[in-house]
Amino acid sequence: MTGTAPQHTDVEGVDGGVGLTALLVAAARAIETHRDDTLVQDPYAEHFVRAAPACEDWPVRLEQVPDGDADPLWGRFARYFGLRTRVLDDFLLRAVRTGARQVVLLGAGLDTRAFRLDWPSGRAVFEIDRAGVLAFKHRVLTDLTATPRAERVPVPVDLRADWAGALATAGFDPSVPSVWLAEGLLFYLPGPAETYLIDTVDGLTTQGSALAFEAKLEKDLLVYRDSAIYTATRERIGIDLLHLFDKGPRPDSAGALAAKGWSTSMHTPFDFTERHRRGPLPEPNDALEGNRWVFAHKPRP
Ligand SMILES: C[S@@+](CC[C@H](N)C(=O)[O-])C[C@H]1O[C@@H](n2cnc3c(N)ncnc32)[C@H](O)[C@@H]1O
Repeated sequence: MTGTAPQHTDVEGVDGGVGLTALLVAAARAIETHRDDTLVQDPYAEHFVRAAPACEDWPVRLEQVPDGDADPLWGRFARYFGLRTRVLDDFLLRAVRTGARQVVLLGAGLDTRAFRLDWPSGRAVFEIDRAGVLAFKHRVLTDLTATPRAERVPVPVDLRADWAGALATAGFDPSVPSVWLAEGLLFYLPGPAETYLIDTVDGLTTQGSALAFEAKLEKDLLVYRDSAIYTATRERIGIDLLHLFDKGPRPDSAGALAAKGWSTSMHTPFDFTERHRRGPLPEPNDALEGNRWVFAHKPRP
């Protein structure tokens, strides 16, 4: 795909619009999987990339990237996704080992955690995304005869609609502790949909539950339009992230959770680069500068 490729923002599947971003993350996870200093093993990731015509010329190994780590898209940005995946894997596993029995992946995309993480027995993983994305995922995983390591429940619904009803119909039990994840999601949603999401998570969680999400704190995202990451993503694979991000005012979701009694902590990705001694470092005109990973817990009495 080239930089002149049209942006199909309302496409339901992975062929364009926001669905294509799920493939971007899958390609990054494929590259991370095959690195010598890997942080994450996702053996399914490259199969998604290879199954989608929209990304037939994307790399799935760093050796296929001429500039390697120096490449802003398949080097630095891919490493960002690898680090994010690892940090959020650790968060989810900690939460289920300390009591959460249900996992809800909001905007799950091509996340294969239900298949690749070592879940304690009796856990359910709900995957919410739009129907077209989940149908593509189902097709690829079925072809691979992949077996989930928890009870896996796809919930095809748009997060701008009343998704809580769909989750209840799918079997989610609000009386049982749960852990929730919104990874690479909230900035695609209109502000009111994010507010509804946070209120709904609060309403559907017991004490002992947890939520992690990714936020972008920039007041004006367009300031970074010519950053290396946004430019490479737009011009080389035709994904204009700034076009896909919602431009309206963002709610203060960490503040809203704190006001509801949750304990919250907010980190930069670079905090975890330091912790894992691998990952992106800050750079000038950095599209990652405003990215924050928020970890929230609803305290037990
Ligand atoms: C960047 S991808 C991240 C996917 C996954 N969380 C991960 O990190 O691999 C964004 C995902 O959010 C989903 N998404 C965006 N807007 C959505 C909406 N309104 N309803 C449901 N899913 C949505 C997209 O379909 C896509 O799969």
